[in-house]
Amino acid sequence: MTGGPIVGALNGRRPRLVERYRRFLPVSDATPPLTLGEGFTPLVHARRLGAELGLTRLFLKVEGQNPTGSFKDRGMVVAVARALEDGAKALICASTGNTSASAAAYGAAAGLEVVVVLPRGQIALGKLLQALVAGAHVVAIDGNFDEALTLVRQLADDPAHPITLVNSINPYRLEGQKTAAFEVCDDLGAPPDVLAIPVGNAGNISAYWAGFRAYRDAGEIEALPRMFGFQAEGAAPLVLGHPVDQPETIATAIRIGNPASWDKAIAARDESDGVIQAVSDEQILAAYQDLARLEGVFCEPSSAASLAGIRALAESTDLDRDATIVCVLTGAGLKDPATAQASAPAIAESEPNVDAIRRVLGW
Ligand code: F0G
Repeated sequence: MTGGPIVGALNGRRPRLVERYRRFLPVSDATPPLTLGEGFTPLVHARRLGAELGLTRLFLKVEGQNPTGSFKDRGMVVAVARALEDGAKALICASTGNTSASAAAYGAAAGLEVVVVLPRGQIALGKLLQALVAGAHVVAIDGNFDEALTLVRQLADDPAHPITLVNSINPYRLEGQKTAAFEVCDDLGAPPDVLAIPVGNAGNISAYWAGFRAYRDAGEIEALPRMFGFQAEGAAPLVLGHPVDQPETIATAIRIGNPASWDKAIAARDESDGVIQAVSDEQILAAYQDLARLEGVFCEPSSAASLAGIRALAESTDLDRDATIVCVLTGAGLKDPATAQASAPAIAESEPNVDAIRRVLGW
């Protein structure tokens, strides 16, 4: 398995994601070669966490290493390139933060106006700053993500003001996000047995499942993984089977009550013999801290829902100890300094001399 030829190198060095998987993507010679260096994120063997959970082949797909610090860049690069190709002048999205950061960055690189509509007071600081610094028009509403999405759909439908919607209901977004599934298979040399992933608006679980199926259909892999999706307990419509009016969770990225890709996520679960389950904020925070302390991987809280879910299943079910399990860590830890600070230990203080530092360290 090669993952296709690595071509389209940037300055003769780093290849472009869209070139690497070109035959699976809706691009042509007419599509502008937009890139910020997205994709090619690490797959880390989590040996210490795995030992603790009794799982020998636990891996982390570290999507926080994308250009704007989340997996959104994989889909945004395709959506914005296609918007440019189609003559768009402006982009719009609703967001819990990461989509807006990504849209703002790729919109800036493409020279397009960007409008983002966000739930007031519910966006992690790093993400908000990313959108503002990149020059997006940021509009905060007294409403949640689901309400913001309804509003931007209406704004994008107005022929008097043409503007391209770049939420994951834009089909190019999910097309681009499929590349993460290809990378996982290429890095492992085979598909995983289980793909564990946080679920909010349910685009990413749908994109991974489409990606694995496309790779199987192309003969790149023989089997398909089971898809294990995890929602936060206070924002778990897919687990409950009905929309949640007032979603609540510390994991603000997945604070969503009525996912746009509902049917696709349920199909991914059912076709793959998978599960979609809920994890509590306490389980998410414990996983978030353990990822940093045991593996050195600092992700944002929502991302840790994947590990929280696998941990809960490892403790309560007969999960195969030697299964190859990939937890997708969707975004970077620095995006949400407030959550990090709330759980961080105090800083020790010392006089500026070695004896004092030794004393502080208890030597
Ligand atoms: N993890 C992170 C860090 C996210 O930002 C999101 C979604 C998800 C997981 C869930 O992915 O929606 O495809 O199921 N963030 C969107 C946003 C909603 O606006 O940034 P999903």
